[in-house]
Amino acid sequence: MPNPFRFSGVVAEPAFCDRLKERREMRRYIESSQNVLLYSHRRYGKSSLILKVFRELKNITPVYIDLYGTTHADEFIAAFLKGISSLESRMDRLMKMLREKIRSVGLNFSVDALTGMPTASPVFNRSAQDKTIDELFAVIEAFSRKKKLAVAFDEFQEVAAYGGDAFEKRLRKSIQQHDRIAYIFAGSQKHLITEMFNDRKRAFYLLATSFPLGRIPTRDYAKWIKRLYRNAGRSIADALIEEVVALCENHPMYVQEFFFNLWEAREPSFEHLDRVKCEMVAKRTPEYAYLWDSLTLNQKRALKLVALTAGKNIFAAQNLNKTGFRTASQVTAALAGIKKTGLLDKNKTWKIHDPFFRRWLTSEQN
Ligand SMILES: Nc1ncnc2c1ncn2[C@@H]1O[C@H](COP(=O)(O)OP(=O)(O)O)[C@@H](O)[C@H]1O
Ligand SMILES: [Mg+2]
Repeated sequence: MPNPFRFSGVVAEPAFCDRLKERREMRRYIESSQNVLLYSHRRYGKSSLILKVFRELKNITPVYIDLYGTTHADEFIAAFLKGISSLESRMDRLMKMLREKIRSVGLNFSVDALTGMPTASPVFNRSAQDKTIDELFAVIEAFSRKKKLAVAFDEFQEVAAYGGDAFEKRLRKSIQQHDRIAYIFAGSQKHLITEMFNDRKRAFYLLATSFPLGRIPTRDYAKWIKRLYRNAGRSIADALIEEVVALCENHPMYVQEFFFNLWEAREPSFEHLDRVKCEMVAKRTPEYAYLWDSLTLNQKRALKLVALTAGKNIFAAQNLNKTGFRTASQVTAALAGIKKTGLLDKNKTWKIHDPFFRRWLTSEQN
């Protein structure tokens, strides 16, 4: 029986666990053409959730636009064009639809080697960028008059880096006029994406409903994991499942990776858990060391402080002393700097977000 767990890229059934509540909520927004801002840390399952909901839609056409890696408006246009190519599965119809409406830029048509579907790409004409973007939105607007649409811009925070004010305003102008399209803006850099939508001065202010994506509850994991074991004619104790999920702090990718590694053990035991845990920390050491080296001295101290105290009483004199700080304001400044990297979260207390990074940090390795 092949290993059913997947820890890279988008996951679909049977490697997709539940998210019933989120699927229902997302569907409700899409059906009423409400725009959504879906955000979480990386690898929590935003893309997987969007594509899962898209497969389940009835009478609404999905369009998925992946902006990951785009660094300027030309690439935004290319990604947009690729995304809307899925609206037609026949080359002749796709050519007709796009050629009629997109006149500001030349188009190339080809067959996608991966999917076998026809796809369009632009032949650049930078002076016409603004016009091209308007035309792309006009294509989906025209389509939406026949049938409602759900359009996802995944990794939308990329736009914040290259778009600029005028670019964002241009997008907004079209988006806010479309009442039969639900736009889903998904992003993984919380500070970038929330600033874009929550800052009064920005073009996207209040353009979408916030949809923070959380971790998956232990109960749901347990049902799903037991099913995968059962399907392979195997079994696993509840106590083990609960322990693994707790070790991974319910982080979707880590839970998958942990069970992927554990799958090799015919009869998994608590000893296996320990081994897998150490291996997962060891495997990430180069990545963590690189991160560590990119921090300033006070940021390193602040991370150790949070790790040592589990975020409690971090400003107590004895804790400051232990980590080499002289004043509380040094700590505050260092924490603010690290927060931008996404390594730390603050709810009531500061917390190192990645449980394996925390283990690495408090282990013998440094
Ligand atoms: N619903 C889910 N059930 C189980 N694992 C999931 C689920 N969603 C995400 N994952 C895990 O997280 C990883 C990253 O998912 P992805 O959708 O790419 O996240 P994001 O788009 O938030 O970065 C997947 O490879 C998988 O291991
Ligand atoms: Mg993603």
